[in-house]
Amino acid sequence: MSATLSAPVLPEYLKGRDFLTFLEYSPEELQELLTLAAQLKQLKRNRIPHKLLEGLSVAMYFEKPSNRTRVSFEVGIYDLGAHPFMLRKDEINLGVRETIADTARTLSRYVDCIMIRTFAQKDVEELAQWADVPVINGLTDDYHPCQVLADLLTVQERFGSFKGRKLTYVGDGNNMANSLMLGCAMVGMDVTIASPSGYQPQPAIVEKAQSIAAQSGATVAVSDDVKAAVKDASVVYTDVWASMGQEAEAEARKQVFKAYQVNAENLALALPEAIVLHCLPAHRGEEITAEVLEKHADVIFEQAENRLHAQKAVLAAIVR
Ligand code: CP
Ligand code: NVA
Repeated sequence: MSATLSAPVLPEYLKGRDFLTFLEYSPEELQELLTLAAQLKQLKRNRIPHKLLEGLSVAMYFEKPSNRTRVSFEVGIYDLGAHPFMLRKDEINLGVRETIADTARTLSRYVDCIMIRTFAQKDVEELAQWADVPVINGLTDDYHPCQVLADLLTVQERFGSFKGRKLTYVGDGNNMANSLMLGCAMVGMDVTIASPSGYQPQPAIVEKAQSIAAQSGATVAVSDDVKAAVKDASVVYTDVWASMGQEAEAEARKQVFKAYQVNAENLALALPEAIVLHCLPAHRGEEITAEVLEKHADVIFEQAENRLHAQKAVLAAIVR
């Protein structure tokens, strides 16, 4: 068995940590998770068992729809030898049926980890504050750290390194924009967010990412000029114009974001070797043309696959 196919050595110092933004981790720890994800991907590809969480249980609670997060967590938890199960909103009704603190303390007596997808980041933070087991953020209105860990794994696989490369995100200054700014800043990749005025990321998160970037030698910029932002990018990233929970604004947003589409014309300004990433689900003809999406489908679905490996790394590192 080659070195890459041996059982990974799990870092003890990550055990018990939550995974809520990225800010709980140092850049070195984030890199450690990426290395672990790459190792677990090799084990999975080679069908080598890696039941690192044998006999444990992970609860998954969703207040928003999901394909990738739900399925990749469920499969990943099984791969690790643990038992996944879904909690429905009508069963738990977080913060309504009982206090978040009581839900957290009760679940902690039954399960070894809680993965949650909900609206308010503060609810996830409160759950984590009261839970005795690690809590993983599976998307809130403000952050999507599991997605960005998979995105960084994809960039690392394609380019081998982050430094000196630019990721340009085109579209809404939403949860994806926030987590991409933090993730890129931590690994030392330049990041530019191109969003229309009024839809740019929260200044506090931009400033936080900029302070991290100052340490890693990267830059974080926000602009309303798509063409200037895409110029010389290695990675062009986009996401839906109306996120889950913003369905009522979807029509109005189509007008606001019309110029913020990843299409062949904008993409021509990126580096010749540039890749296009999309967290999915995609709305063809809105944030991305069908032509661009299909041309870059290989890497976009590799990115989707990498959710599995990235999240398994987080689970293996923090649960036990
Ligand atoms: N990218 C992502 O989180 O997809 P789902 O909403 O389908 O989980
Ligand atoms: N910004 C999107 C991401 C989906 C993965 C949303 O929150 O709906």
